[in-house]
Parts: sequence; C-alpha cells; structure tokens
Amino acid sequence: MLSVRWDWQGNCELLPPDKIINSDLYCQQMMKLKQKVEKQWPELINRKGENYLRYYRVTPSTLYSRDYDENVNPGIVNGFGSGAFRFLHTLVSDGIVSCPASYQAAYKYRLSDHYFNPSLLEISPSSFDDILRGMAQQSAAESDPYCTAEVTNLMFKSSNSWGLDLVAMDIQRGRDHGIASYNDYREICGLRKAQHFQDLAGEMSQDRINALQQLYECVDDVDLFVGGAMEKDVPGSILGHTFQCLVAEQFYRTRIGDRFFYDNCEMPHSFTSDQLMEIKKTSMARLICDNSDLQYIQKKAFELESPYNPKYSCKDNNAIPYMDLTHWRKDRFD
Ligand code: HEM
Repeated sequence: MLSVRWDWQGNCELLPPDKIINSDLYCQQMMKLKQKVEKQWPELINRKGENYLRYYRVTPSTLYSRDYDENVNPGIVNGFGSGAFRFLHTLVSDGIVSCPASYQAAYKYRLSDHYFNPSLLEISPSSFDDILRGMAQQSAAESDPYCTAEVTNLMFKSSNSWGLDLVAMDIQRGRDHGIASYNDYREICGLRKAQHFQDLAGEMSQDRINALQQLYECVDDVDLFVGGAMEKDVPGSILGHTFQCLVAEQFYRTRIGDRFFYDNCEMPHSFTSDQLMEIKKTSMARLICDNSDLQYIQKKAFELESPYNPKYSCKDNNAIPYMDLTHWRKDRFD
C-alpha cells in the first residue's frame, strides 16, 4: 500500500490514508501505455479487429516467435481483470445444452439449477459426450450490454429463490480495485476525454448516453465496466474501442513479456521446431475427439458448424490433425 498516486500527466500526489488505493507501479505502467497509444493512435484509426491484433503483435506466429522483451511486464493489467475481460460475461448463455449422438433432440438445462453441480455429467454413460456435443452446437449470447438473468438474478442461488448479481459484482470489483474511470481509460486508449456526456457520441448511441446521464451525475464517474460495455463494437470485433485496447494490451504483455511463452525460441527450455510444429497442429476439436466418444466435430470447435466450418470425422487425421508425440521421444539414458 502506497500513499502516492500518479496522475496521467506523470505528477504524483500524496494521499490521505483513507484514499490509498493504487500502487505507483500500476500508475507508472498506465502512463507508459498512454504514451504508447498516443504515439500510435493515427495508425489505429479504421483498423479492423484482425489488423488490430497484427498491429499489437498478438496474432499467432507460424512457428517461433522471436520478440520476447524483458522490459514488458507480463502481469495482469487491473483494468483488464477487473473490467474489460469481464465484459465477456455478456456472452454467457442461459442454459447448458445436451445433444444425443443422433442430433435429433436436444435438451437445455437451466444454468441456475446447476451451479456447483456437475452431476449432469453423470446422469447416463453418454452424458459427458451429450454435453460436449451440445456445447459445440450452442451459440453464445450476444456481446451487448445485457446479461442473462441466470447470472444477474440467480447466480449461485443453490436452493434459494434468488441468487447473486454478477454484473453488480463486476462493477463493484472495479471500485474495490480502485481502477481508473471509463473516461480516464478512454484517454489512455487514445480517445478524447469527455467533458460532457454528449462527448461520448462517437462511441455510443444516444439512448445509451441518455441512460448513463440518468444514472451518473458526472461523465467522470462512469465506471470502466459500464462505459466500456456501452460502446459500439469496433467493426470486425465483439468489443468496443476501449475494451479492445485493454484486451490487446494485455494479450501483448502476456505473450511478449513471458519468457516461458510456448513458442519462444531463444531459451534453453524452448521446444524444438519439430515439437513446436506438432503443438501448432493440434486443436480444440482434436482434444475433444481424443477425450470423448464423439465421432464428428467441426474443425473450429469454438465456432458453430457452417458450410465454412463443416463437421469432420474424428478419425480424419487430415482435417483434424493428431499431434505426433514421437518428437518428444528420448533414449532411456538421455
Ligand atoms: C457461467 C459462466 C460464468 C460465471 C457464472 C462467472 C462468474 C464469475 C464470478 C462469480 C467472478 C468473480 C466476481 C468477483 O468476485 O468479482 C468472475 C470473475 C471473472 N470472470 Fe467470470 N463467469 C463466467 C464466465 C466467464 C467468461 C466466459 C469469461 C471470459 C471469457 C469470464 C471472465 C471473468 C474474469 C476476467 C473475471 C475476473 C477474474 C479475476 O479478477 O481474477 N467469466 N466470474
């Protein structure tokens, strides 16, 4: 706990004991992020999701990545863990779908009836496979500022009629962590800091601005989680500008700043190129095939089946490649 707070201009301020919330390290890091984004902002305009990832050097490499940087802190940015990434709670579906091998009749279990209760997996010998099949068939909820009532009214309800509100917890957790406001993060991420609610018009629709104005006295009070969730999606992305910036920054740090990242080639512990090629061949679809009795699955298991993503037989090694572990074989005495 430190009694110093850095503002975004790099000035520090002594805080009274009841306001001690942030480490100065965190604020220094945020200053650096602000400078970096500001310098690069012109190039970010009009970039679509994929380009943004490329720009942030977080697209998967074809083989080795060679850009480990010991000066990059791989730790979790507070605004990511206590704000941006929690936005994906909006994707949580209201139920768990179970689908038999015939694909003829699916059954949906209510999420709130099954918190902390894995017995669904044990109803019959095929339950595990039925649920895997259901998950591969089921689409996620929309990425918008609305979450299912299964998590906003009934989370962890057990045998009670009411449970917890996950979104209220997300907002409150951001306050517990003392993270900067939505307006501060706008500026850190290269947008103009809003002086009035109406200055948010570039990033959100008028009805959302009106809603924020009713709930908050001042635009500086808007919580990161709330403001970020209200932003329009960047084309090609499920995130708005500010959350996209925070998520990309975190992924960048996690990869570039971690010398143990699996495709890093400059270390004594690095995989050989043959081993790495095998690792890169494998997929969620192969993992599911190898650990269940499913016979078919779409190649990209996290995306719905479609003409572009058809189902293949788990036995089809060309479509869903196996990982060849012989590249790890060693002589007995090595
Ligand atoms: C049924 C689905 C889910 C439930 C019930 C759930 C519930 C929770 C709960 C109770 C917390 C802790 C809240 C707190 O005390 O502050 C949490 C944190 C979090 N959740 Fe979820 N969650 C779900 C799915 C997801 C998904 C799909 C994502 C993102 C892909 C996600 C990302 C996060 C993150 C980043 C945190 C913060 C973790 C941390 O600070 O250590 N959650 N979630």
